[in-house]
Amino acid sequence: MLHTDFLNRLNSLHLSNKPILFFDSGIGGLPYFRYFYERNPRDTVIYIADRGHFPYGSKTREEITGILIELAARALKYVEPSAAVLACNTASVSALNALRETFPSVSWVGTVPAIKPAVLASKTHRVGVLGTDRTIEDPYIMELAKKYGPGVKIAALAAPDIVQFVEHGGERAAETEKARVVSPYIERLRAVGADALVLGCTHFLLLLDTFRRLAAPGIGVYDSVEGVIRRVEKISKTSKTAPDAAAAGRMSGAVLLLTGSAPIEPLWQKRACAFGLDICLLDSLDSLNCPNNERPVP
Ligand code: DGL
Repeated sequence: MLHTDFLNRLNSLHLSNKPILFFDSGIGGLPYFRYFYERNPRDTVIYIADRGHFPYGSKTREEITGILIELAARALKYVEPSAAVLACNTASVSALNALRETFPSVSWVGTVPAIKPAVLASKTHRVGVLGTDRTIEDPYIMELAKKYGPGVKIAALAAPDIVQFVEHGGERAAETEKARVVSPYIERLRAVGADALVLGCTHFLLLLDTFRRLAAPGIGVYDSVEGVIRRVEKISKTSKTAPDAAAAGRMSGAVLLLTGSAPIEPLWQKRACAFGLDICLLDSLDSLNCPNNERPVP
C-alpha cells in the first residue's frame, strides 16, 4: 500500500472509530492484538512495533521511559485512541507510570505478569517467572509475588536469548529449534521444583505451544493475555458510549506501524500478512505529514 493511501486509511479509520493502540518493541504484542481483534473484529487497531529500539530488555528504566514518551507523542499526532496498551512487560514495569503522567488524557493499559494465578495455583510453593533482564531485575515482580503468596519462592530467570530468537523469526522455526531454545529454562525450573511458570515477556507468547508441551506434565504455564484484553475491552466499551464515538459510523481495520528505517524486511511483511495487518513505516508517515505536530488532514 502507498504511504499516502495508508495515511488516508489511518485518517478514515480514526474518524470513524477511535482506535486501540498497541505498543511493543517488536512482535511480542501481536498475540495480544490477535486475541483482542478476534473478539472485537469491528474495532480499529493500530499496532506499533518499535523495531528501531528493539530490544527494550537490555536498556535501563530511564532509557525505555524516554523512548516510549517520544514514541507515544509521535503516535498521538495521528491517533486519538480509546485505549493505549503497552503489550510489553518491560515497557510496563519501566514506563507505565511516566506515560500516565505525561499523557493523562489517554487510557493506558499495562501488561502485568500473571504472577497472581500462578502463585495461587502452586502446590510446591515454587514459581518460575521468565522475562527480560529489565523486567526480572525490577522490584515489582517480587512485590507482586509477596502480595499474593508470601511464602512462595520465585525463580526469576532472564531469557534474552528467547526474545532474540522470537523477534528474528523464531515463531516460524521448526519445533525442534523452538524446543532447543525453551528447554534449558524448563529444566532449570524442574530442578528447583517449580510447578508454575509465568511468561513475563510478551514475546514468549509466540512460543506458547512449545512452552506448554515441554512444561507438561507438572508445570502449568500462565500468561496475561486474557486479563490484559478484558481490561482493554472494559475501557474501550466505556469510551464507545461517549456521544462523539457512538454517533460515528463503524469501520474495521488493523494496521501495523514499524519504527526504524527502510526497507521493511520480508519477515515483517510475512508477519503483517499472517496477522491480517496493513504495514507501513512510521518514518514514512512522518515525512509525509505533521509539520507542526498537527494531526494529518486527509
Ligand atoms: N516484549 C517485551 C516484554 O514483554 C520485551 C522484548 C524486548 O526486550 O524488547 O517484555
